[in-house]
Amino acid sequence: MKMEQNDAKRQRLLRNLSYGAIASAPLIALAAYSSAGVMAAQPVEPGSSPSAAYLIPVAEGEAEAEARAEGEAEAEAEGEAEGEAEAEGEAEAEGEGEAEAGEALRDAVTRPADYQPFEGDPEALAALGEDLFYNRELSTNNLACASCHMEGAGYADTFAQPFPHHVEMAQRDFGLNEVHLDEMVQICMVSPMAAEPLDWDSEELAALVEFMKLEQEAFQEGR
Ligand code: HEC
Repeated sequence: MKMEQNDAKRQRLLRNLSYGAIASAPLIALAAYSSAGVMAAQPVEPGSSPSAAYLIPVAEGEAEAEARAEGEAEAEAEGEAEGEAEAEGEAEAEGEGEAEAGEALRDAVTRPADYQPFEGDPEALAALGEDLFYNRELSTNNLACASCHMEGAGYADTFAQPFPHHVEMAQRDFGLNEVHLDEMVQICMVSPMAAEPLDWDSEELAALVEFMKLEQEAFQEGR
């Protein structure tokens, strides 16, 4: 009996978590991401101040999800179970620093003023980029880019447009009206991959960008 209850509670939490975290993601991503949300509170280097901000979207996602889970009929029961102290703490955490965190997040994925991308042979970069695309170690939640984006598929329709262009997630979670391809890679590093952005002048970023150009061509051609 107890186990059944726990199971039901867990299912509901996962459902709400995934709903709150990425409502627009492909289905396959929802399953992976909902469990990833729990693990996203990974150690981030202490002292690098923007880092803490990367945890905020997850915290907000959870808070939203919980707000939903606790809604209406369930409000009383769950309020008792989870205790008032916890609820208060979360409300505070959500309110404070939300604006600041939003700015830090946006800055972290926006091209720096002195941006000098790594330059190399495009073919070699694309090959490295393809490896990185499948590499789960880029993330802190055991996802690879390929977990959500299949080769030539698994992208929103906006991907067919030349960059910079509007991407819903960039607008919703980072307040950016349009993004360059490299910025989009950084957004996916920070948000769905729950990691630090790559160094702007790194070979890794240039490599992922180069491979994503091939992905974009494949997507445009529908292969
Ligand atoms: C957990 C799922 C997930 C993972 C992992 C992920 N992404 Fe994404 N990606 C998304 C979602 C969701 C969007 C935005 C779709 C939207 O809002 O229209 C997106 C959008 C993109 C876009 C822009 C598509 C467009 O519409 O222009 C690119 C490029 C991209 N991702 C690259 C990457 C790269 C590179 C990685 C690995 C570093 C990665 N993604 C990892 C979920 C993911």
